[in-house]
Amino acid sequence: MSPSITPSSRATEPAAPVSTPASNPASRQPRFVVAPGGTLRGQLRVPGDKSISHRAIMLGAIADGVTEISGFLEGADALATLAAFRAMGVVIDGPDRGRVRVMGAGLEGLRDPGLALAMGNSGTSMRLLSGLLSGQRFATTLTGDASLSRRPMRRVTEPLRAMGAEIETTSAGTAPLVVRPVANLHGIHYRMPVASAQVKSSLLLAGLYATGETCVTEPAPTRDHTERMLTAFGYPLERTPGRVCLHGGGRLRAIPIAVPADISSAAFFLVGASIAPGSELLLQGVGLNPTRIGVINILRAMGADIGVEGLREEGAEPVADLRVRPAPLRGIEIPADQVPLAIDEFPALFIAAACAEGETLLTGAEELRVKESDRIAVMAEGLTALGIRAEVLPDGIRIVGRGQRPDVFTGGRVHSHDDHRIAMSFAMAALRASGPVEIEDCANVDTSFPGFAALAAGAGLGIVEEAA
Ligand code: S3P
Repeated sequence: MSPSITPSSRATEPAAPVSTPASNPASRQPRFVVAPGGTLRGQLRVPGDKSISHRAIMLGAIADGVTEISGFLEGADALATLAAFRAMGVVIDGPDRGRVRVMGAGLEGLRDPGLALAMGNSGTSMRLLSGLLSGQRFATTLTGDASLSRRPMRRVTEPLRAMGAEIETTSAGTAPLVVRPVANLHGIHYRMPVASAQVKSSLLLAGLYATGETCVTEPAPTRDHTERMLTAFGYPLERTPGRVCLHGGGRLRAIPIAVPADISSAAFFLVGASIAPGSELLLQGVGLNPTRIGVINILRAMGADIGVEGLREEGAEPVADLRVRPAPLRGIEIPADQVPLAIDEFPALFIAAACAEGETLLTGAEELRVKESDRIAVMAEGLTALGIRAEVLPDGIRIVGRGQRPDVFTGGRVHSHDDHRIAMSFAMAALRASGPVEIEDCANVDTSFPGFAALAAGAGLGIVEEAA
């Protein structure tokens, strides 16, 4: 289970300032009200993996043949990708309870959508599509919501331009992106300054359309779903530790794809059942790709009791059931090599840190400042509102845990700042709070975890979703 040890992934691209504006009281959104205490018990399956769902649509769309997807995440982000390919003429049936059939159009089969492609909140859609669209014979415009329109895009547009692509951003290097057709893309060897699977994947997708060889070297391991899926679709890749290369001009052959449950969504329940006395959860069919298991490694290093049962291979990914029981947690210094492997799970991990004995220190995680929100600032704000001492660092956070006492958090109101993972993390905090926890701005929970409140309530969380 332990991932290979590599040097820290300190991001070197200057993080574009992503503001976290106070929520606008005029824009009403659903909110969560979570009663204090409770336990999490039973068996459940969280929705399909977001990263794999995006890629299944993208590769299925440009493959030869029909890709049958099961376990597809019917959340707004993956649906934005699906809608984009429909707009480009790809025939797609579903989704119907996680089943999607993509009639592959082949590498050259996409058509001019004739309108801007709206990516919503989804950074993965925008960054991966910018690469894939660089190789098309038509122009496209990619737009995003307010949060996505603040996120840095030069990390993909600069290397894509080096491949010959023509892409425009705003003067701030943000969306909307305009991608224009060019006569020829050519492969490059790119050493990523930031450990980013989105950048790596974007360049590999452009590389399918490029002459010659495209190679990407990463400063630390990042999720490798694109590489695994390309290989499963029969596309030749050369992989050596820290580096992947491919040649343009090959073909993809459609295959069935079973999407595992998303470890990033399981993370909220791993933390919840670890901190709530009397809990026991079995999380079924969770994807355990070695580049995604930082959350398990970190929680175990803090003392968590997480068992891996029935480890198996499904599609091109390892999958298992996770059994989690409460355990006394201790604060730790989070190992640098685990940071990219847990990059989406830190909001949940900060809740665990507040329930640990002693301090938890995270550094080398400046990438958290340019996610769907500035996750360092926004989590520190919410933790403070719930009575936890948290010190913001330029590249991380120090959290003073309150240990084994039953009431770690006061009740109170927190803002998710439109960030799905912030909302779900604070919902779990209520399990160890002395009063109700109210969470504002929860609409974006649907981007990655539709049905979160109902599933969590079924497991025992006292959560009510109040409509806008
Ligand atoms: C993703 C890669 C990660 C992650 C994001 C999904 C992907 O982003 O945070 O939620 O599917 O490739 P970075 O590539 O920016 O690290």
